[in-house]
Amino acid sequence: MSELNSIALKILSGGKGILAADESTATMTKRLDSVGVSSTPDNRLLFRKTLFTSNQMEDCIGGVILYDETIKQKTLDNITIPDLIKSANSVPGIKVDTGAKVLANSTEEKITEGLDGLRERLKEYYKLGARFTKWRGVYSISKNFPSKLAIETNAHALARYSALVQECNMVPIVEPEVLMDGDHSAQVCFKKTSEVINKCFDELILHKIDLTGVILKPNMILPATNSNEKISSNEIAKLTIKCLKDSVPSEVPGIAFLSGGQAEIEATENLNSINKENNTNFILSYSFGRALQQGALKHWSKNINDVVGTQKIFNHRAKMNTLAAQGKWSKELENK
Ligand code: 13P
Repeated sequence: MSELNSIALKILSGGKGILAADESTATMTKRLDSVGVSSTPDNRLLFRKTLFTSNQMEDCIGGVILYDETIKQKTLDNITIPDLIKSANSVPGIKVDTGAKVLANSTEEKITEGLDGLRERLKEYYKLGARFTKWRGVYSISKNFPSKLAIETNAHALARYSALVQECNMVPIVEPEVLMDGDHSAQVCFKKTSEVINKCFDELILHKIDLTGVILKPNMILPATNSNEKISSNEIAKLTIKCLKDSVPSEVPGIAFLSGGQAEIEATENLNSINKENNTNFILSYSFGRALQQGALKHWSKNINDVVGTQKIFNHRAKMNTLAAQGKWSKELENK
């Protein structure tokens, strides 16, 4: 087993998933503004540290994706945040893209930037303790989108990023996120997501990526936010598994879904159905941001010093998602 493969397995084995706490300062400011807390470096750290010291971290959270600010912060007793995460037997990771910008000649679409100087930044993050990384390509669905241009340029960037990350002995999370915005059906989401993921792996293979040391972070196959279509969680699971089976090479050890704007319990229920249907060799787990943090953030915002109350909510969500990653969740467990 390669070193990269064992890192990927350590993060995702046994129902463990990833806490995506890598919101940029701009995104985190929006989240904190929405609950009436001022977005200072200390407040951003206080919320995140509250999550990282929760007791379900050890059993449920195999890896935490950090943002540049957080990986360099320390606790009041001078412990670095990567060390704090490692003390919960979890692996520190880092978002390394610098955001999605307007794609020239397809002005309604985006290309993710951050390749310039990446090799040097990766070395610094490795020294700070990171052992895996994240890069998010973002695609929207409409009649003509995602365009061939957006699909090809983002796949190329994801592959160049992955090569540099593996050169630095870290596991790249490859995240091609097809957004839920719009009114398209689940079938359309299936078709476009399949095209996007297929192209990503064409490029990863061209760039000689060790696929056994990659984690894919895709969206689930869902009808769009404004679609009238109602489909069951089982149907979502069937479409999602079919898409992944058809487009992901079997060497890839693990797939960790983003939540993408689904409500917390909805994301858990869909993950559970996906695992009940799982007839692949892939580990199918979670790398949730909002679906792990929303409830905890809301509670915390009422009293930012209520560590116990905030952790109780986070612990419950982490536990529910880890059960779902093994197909062992049920609605009744939510109220226990
Ligand atoms: P959500 O689960 O909130 O979609 O966030 C995951 C993530 O890391 C997006 O890049």
